[in-house]
Amino acid sequence: MTVIEVVQGDITRQDTDAIVNAANESLLGGGGVDGAIHWAAGPRLAEAGAAIAPCARGDAKATPSFDLPPPIRHVIHTVGPTWKGGDRGEPDTLASCYRRCLEVADELGARSVAFPAISTGIFAFPPDRAARIAIDTLRSTRTSVERIRLMAFDADSFRLLTAALATG
Ligand code: APR
Repeated sequence: MTVIEVVQGDITRQDTDAIVNAANESLLGGGGVDGAIHWAAGPRLAEAGAAIAPCARGDAKATPSFDLPPPIRHVIHTVGPTWKGGDRGEPDTLASCYRRCLEVADELGARSVAFPAISTGIFAFPPDRAARIAIDTLRSTRTSVERIRLMAFDADSFRLLTAALATG
């Protein structure tokens, strides 16, 4: 039985086995949550990312967590779609991110995973639609992960994710 919860806070400070990074194809780091995770994990994260890059949109690849605080052991990097209006396959690509991250988490034996709101920042995916896709995809994907934590970085995101989790 997989529990899905919504938590407001910084993904780099979570007590989960793995955290998901909303990355770009280079896996070298960037802004937003990508920047926060690379800052907390230290320079070895970009080195490890470069060794396995590129990561295609909708795919996911794992690295160690390096200097991130325990119990985080893995960073699962995924590259979400850039919003272009919604008729260029963005919803399917976003769903693929969540599905592939759970597949990678299962390969790692991770029992708990924290996700940021993939693509809803710099990639401009509408957060309400993204929340629905995230929850529907996570609910419909078979996984051994026991605890999925959806991270809200602000109060509005928390309200939106909580409402989406309560419906559908
Ligand atoms: N903890 C949790 N969530 C966070 C954090 C954090 N420390 N920092 C930002 N967020 C949230 C944002 O508020 C947003 O809701 O993560 C969500 C995703 O936003 P972005 O980080 O901008 O990611 P995304 O929209 O997927 O854009 C990815 O931005 O940083 C670059 O290299 C990255 O090119 C890639 C693009």
